[in-house]
Amino acid sequence: MEIKLAFLLFTTLLISMVACENKSQQKATTIPQADNAAYLEKGKKIAGATFTALSGKLQAAMKEGGVANAIQYCNLAAFPLVDSLSKVHHADIRRTSLKVRNLKDAPNADEKTILEAYEKSAQAGKALKPLVREIDEQSVAFYAPIKVNNLCLQCHGKVGETLAEKNHAFIQQFYPEDKAIGYADGDLRGMWSIRFSKGVGNKENNE
Ligand code: HEC
Repeated sequence: MEIKLAFLLFTTLLISMVACENKSQQKATTIPQADNAAYLEKGKKIAGATFTALSGKLQAAMKEGGVANAIQYCNLAAFPLVDSLSKVHHADIRRTSLKVRNLKDAPNADEKTILEAYEKSAQAGKALKPLVREIDEQSVAFYAPIKVNNLCLQCHGKVGETLAEKNHAFIQQFYPEDKAIGYADGDLRGMWSIRFSKGVGNKENNE
């Protein structure tokens, strides 16, 4: 009898401890405003650096051998380049879209929700802002819209208009399931999805 009672007491205590811990964890997971601002800054820096690196290489490849050369370059080098920048920034850097060219860039459930919200805002003519969301207690995700400019149209534009038919045929050789065409200047093309860990170290890296 006594053992049973002691066991009952013990389990009740254990349950209340676990419940309590859950509560404190929930509290710890909301991002304080100052941290949010720091994560936004960090995300913007990483996205900016990656964009500069990618578009620099892209323009050099186009200059060297035209659009076809640049397409081959993107096909081979976009992922390794982004991967190496991920290492440099201690972050997981991705580009994703509702209409992807490379299936590896297809959005996960969270990304799809954000992409759809951006698309809705874009259609309503609202400004699209970068944002930070919590992934778990250790990490956050930074999202920011990617818009199309004139340079992009040579590979993502309207077939037979801004995107030459021969280039489109070339793209289809590498990406038979390509959906990333038909865009016009200023359209929403997709977004950055960058994950990194929370914490003081990150804020220091930021400065
Ligand atoms: C020379 C052709 C070319 C140009 C110009 C170009 N892209 Fe791309 N883009 C590609 C290719 C090829 C891929 C697939 C890369 C891969 O396989 O990793 C791609 C992939 C992407 C992706 C990743 C999502 C997906 O659909 O797979 C985004 C976002 C993107 N491009 C945006 C842009 C933007 C914005 C510009 C203009 C600043 C641009 N691209 C200019 C060829 C191009």
